[in-house]
Amino acid sequence: MFRTHTNGELSLQNLNENVTLSGWVQTIRDKGFMIWIDLRDRYGITQLVFDQDRSTAELMAEAKKLGREFVIQIQGKVIERSSKNPKIPTGEIEILVENLTILNESQLPPFTIEDETDGGEELRMKYRYLDIRRNPVKEKLIFRHKMAQKVRNYLSDEGFIEVETPVLIKSTPEGARDFVVPSRMNPGQFYALPQSPQTFKQLLMVGGMDKYFQIVKCFRDEDLRADRQPEFTQIDCEMAFVEQEDIMNVFEGMTKAMLKEASDKDFGAFPRMTFAEAMQKYGNDKPDIRFGMEFYELNELVKGKDFKIFDEAELVVGINVEGCADYTRKQIDELIDWVKRPQIGATGMIWVKFQNDGVVTSSVNKFYNEEDLKKIAEKFGAKPGDLIFVMSGNTDKVRTQLSALRMELGNRLGLRKGNEFAPLWVVDFPLLEWDEETARYHAMHHPFTSPKPEDIGLMETDPGKVRANAYDLVLNGNEIGGGSIRIFDKELQSKMFDLLGFSKEDAEAQFGFLMNAFKYGAPPHGGLAFGFDRLVAILDGNEVIRDYIAFPKNNSGRDVMIDAPSPIAAEQLEELELKLKL
Ligand code: AMO
Repeated sequence: MFRTHTNGELSLQNLNENVTLSGWVQTIRDKGFMIWIDLRDRYGITQLVFDQDRSTAELMAEAKKLGREFVIQIQGKVIERSSKNPKIPTGEIEILVENLTILNESQLPPFTIEDETDGGEELRMKYRYLDIRRNPVKEKLIFRHKMAQKVRNYLSDEGFIEVETPVLIKSTPEGARDFVVPSRMNPGQFYALPQSPQTFKQLLMVGGMDKYFQIVKCFRDEDLRADRQPEFTQIDCEMAFVEQEDIMNVFEGMTKAMLKEASDKDFGAFPRMTFAEAMQKYGNDKPDIRFGMEFYELNELVKGKDFKIFDEAELVVGINVEGCADYTRKQIDELIDWVKRPQIGATGMIWVKFQNDGVVTSSVNKFYNEEDLKKIAEKFGAKPGDLIFVMSGNTDKVRTQLSALRMELGNRLGLRKGNEFAPLWVVDFPLLEWDEETARYHAMHHPFTSPKPEDIGLMETDPGKVRANAYDLVLNGNEIGGGSIRIFDKELQSKMFDLLGFSKEDAEAQFGFLMNAFKYGAPPHGGLAFGFDRLVAILDGNEVIRDYIAFPKNNSGRDVMIDAPSPIAAEQLEELELKLKL
């Protein structure tokens, strides 16, 4: 038997028991006549002691051979510690070792494997298996497991069936690039890795599996950010014979169960906002509503006062930053420079200060008198001590820029607290979005999303105005899930492909299988998918999803541990009938 107990469970209740423990040597304190070892496993740390007066000379000699991260097994007796450590559950006891077996030696690890480490990000990624021994990383993986378990139980209890869909498929258009896999048996032909199981789950609905879910890997070849990985996990779901409301109810319930598990709090009905409202109030389709700083539009108040920049702008819009009127010139200039950075791209920004003494002043006093400024302050409901920032320009651009500033200020002012949760449904997304580059409409969600019945007429006359039966679930300013009611009518689906500029042949070649299935009695259906990595990270008070993935890719999409991607052998290329052009 390798162990009678784990390293996290012994206490004074086990006093004088003879125990066997196994684990890794975390730290060694060698005082010559006494040696203390912190023995670690997944469950915790137990202090071992070797004592010249109480241990044999052979045992002392053996203990002196130990190094960090050696794997050992010991037998010994549980004794009370003289200096106790209240920080760990085993802190009142130690083990007086009677027998030591070195199970495996270890090279000196490249960084210290403790909660606080000296290892940099890249180094820890290269030795991820060592990083996983550390509490902060291990705990995140355990948290992820708990959440996955919660989801499986919740959905199973609701009558959902987990069905696995294939990984070697044909491209699914979710808006990113596909990862492709060459087929040896079909030279010159390629599989695509799924960007999501979208078409398969719809086929499962045709197959009558009216409540489907899957915790599933998806693959998207897109630029990486803190909340994106090229391979990530979805909680993918679909239901038949349902309306948008039914779907939102089920998955609001599931999200509440997860929130309860993570925060021990009960959440009421999630607020809802239309896409149009979210864009107008927050300049963003995934607003973080943990804090206010809502947008107010000022066109009516500021135009016609000879301030050319505002007169010429399509939209003049601002936010009120509460209690920041005491910002110095330097602080404000720094923020102005911040919005002018190419990443944000604003041309400038004006400010209005509602000073504590009641005086309202601004950076555009030349054009606006105090009465004008007071009206602006009133619009925001500003109080003495508040600071207003105003930007102007093209509506879409200025909203995006002001939204970036709002989030930055939210961060700087500590308004985005990790342990606070603000879920929000955003509904009524536009069906299509215009793409300047290709001069074509693209599906905002994906081509299977249905238009609102009352907007179908607009598909011919004003496609940009058509709203979809599509919804996103937002948590703390992150899109954690999205879905829609699907088109289940062959004619409407083919009209949608037309709108998206697919020729009949292209539509047939790419989606013939789905259109064909729709000929055989497709039920009304809809669903959604959660970004599981994102959801888990946010529920744990973080936004970097990499930490919640056991073996993640770095920002260049590389796995630095196994060194992938990497070249393949000439014979492999030959077998696949592929030629490299380098
Ligand atoms: P969508 O494309 O919105 O919808 O994806 C669903 C959710 O997956 C997460 N997500 C990601 N997470 C990490 N890394 C990525 N690269 C990444 N890309 C997306 C997001 C997102 O909300 N088939 C549809 C769902 C449906 O209509 O049912 C779909 O995939 O949190």
